[in-house]
Amino acid sequence: MHLPDLDIAKKREKSENVYIDLKEDYHKVFQNKKYYIRTYGCQMNVHDSEAIKSYLEALGFVNTENIEEANLVVLNTCAIRENARDKVVGFLGKCKYLKKNRDDFKIVIAGCMSEQPDVIEDIMKNHKYVDLVIGTHNIHELPKLLMQEYQKQTIEVYSNSDEVIEGMNYKRDSKYTAWVNIMYGCDKFCTYCIVPYTRGRERSRKLESIVEEVKTLKENGYKEVTLLGQNVNAYGKDIGETFSHLLECVAKTNIERIRFVTSHPWNFTDEMIDIIAKYDNIMPYIHLPLQSGSNNILKRMNRRYTKEEYIALFNKMKEKIPNVAITTDIIVGFPNETKEDFEETLDVVRTCKFDGAYTFIFSKREGTPAARMEDKISLEEKEERLKELNTLVNKYSNESNQKLLNKVVEVLILGVSDKDKTKVYGYTDTMKLVNVTSDEDIIGKIVKVRITSAKSFSLDGEYVKEEVSA
Ligand code: SAH
Ligand code: SF4
Ligand code: F3S
Repeated sequence: MHLPDLDIAKKREKSENVYIDLKEDYHKVFQNKKYYIRTYGCQMNVHDSEAIKSYLEALGFVNTENIEEANLVVLNTCAIRENARDKVVGFLGKCKYLKKNRDDFKIVIAGCMSEQPDVIEDIMKNHKYVDLVIGTHNIHELPKLLMQEYQKQTIEVYSNSDEVIEGMNYKRDSKYTAWVNIMYGCDKFCTYCIVPYTRGRERSRKLESIVEEVKTLKENGYKEVTLLGQNVNAYGKDIGETFSHLLECVAKTNIERIRFVTSHPWNFTDEMIDIIAKYDNIMPYIHLPLQSGSNNILKRMNRRYTKEEYIALFNKMKEKIPNVAITTDIIVGFPNETKEDFEETLDVVRTCKFDGAYTFIFSKREGTPAARMEDKISLEEKEERLKELNTLVNKYSNESNQKLLNKVVEVLILGVSDKDKTKVYGYTDTMKLVNVTSDEDIIGKIVKVRITSAKSFSLDGEYVKEEVSA
């Protein structure tokens, strides 16, 4: 029987050893079993879930959206903030209930929580009904581990490996826009953040493999790729490459749209800005997390830049990249953040007038340096600050959207709108969400759209019959 993703295994350089020989017997075990997958967290996890789906379906599993009829439930977890973890724990309770009286029901925990020793300990002690815990580095081993799991009844934990896996297979959620990992892990060790512990050290994929992947996606009709990494600007440091060189090579594939997340101000060079400005197919959109506007807090966060440096970089981008949109992440209530510190954050928001911002209350992550810092600020105070910040942030994202009213913009149409099934949705080059009315099927195309109304978080528009690309 042909198992498509196994051909890929042959291309592997470092990790043949982790590959199993999928015999027909294995396939029989899983044939027509149903899997349900739930994904939490960032784009990395969304993309990892695409890999998990591909491996499961190669084994013979069939996807179901109905957890009640599933034989296998995969929770791809996130650990970035306490509430992310709480959601997963809540959902585990439901799985435990479903598993009662059913022999043929397995629970797999994947994702960032699987890389936290305290979580693993908790699962082994208090959630014995979980069948398999698989770390963020081990997704390619899923077929082998599942097979083992179906033959014995103990909880298995697999995590940690610093290999760079090339040639992973994905069952992509979209036919038009694709995530492409360019690197794994993070070395920045911001003092509040769990990611360096759950995703390991920075490891870059080979430039040629990334470019090949983009070329193949283009040949298969993809219009857009988003290059993924926790800090894409650090790409290549471990292999003598640079992000600007990679960007240029990807731009030269002529794929229509190139995006990248996330950028770190510390590693953003002038050369990168020049390359973004030079190529029309690199989208004028940068997500540039600020985290705080106070130099004191930035230092204690180990962010490696000052408020002034951030603003200078921001201005340079605005000046050199025509029509660029910049969004950000901000944390309020870092341990002992004073009123003055918070005011400085508001001050940067007023200066930069971001196109959008994700805002968070500091969440204590066990094992990170910030978890040991003294914190006298009450939760009520932090919630007040968040509210005040959100009001300001929304004002600017609304203003930036209003500027597009009555303008004609290019939108890559991705599918039918969630809320209104008579409309389709897509994103502008500057990553603004637009719900579009059209009497033609324009899904999968980059089209011109006239903006008819603008809100804080989305735009409405109508299709203008002059196609940009087929
Ligand atoms: N690598 C990216 C994003 C990492 S996680 C970066 O460096 O910007 C996404 C966002 O979650 C971060 O930008 C930060 O704003 C937020 N975040 C991370 N850890 C957090 C914590 N402990 N509490 C609150 N927010 C946090
Ligand atoms: Fe976390 Fe900082 Fe790395 Fe981003 S750069 S993932 S915030 S440690
Ligand atoms: Fe969450 Fe892991 Fe992403 S902790 S935000 S899923 S890298």
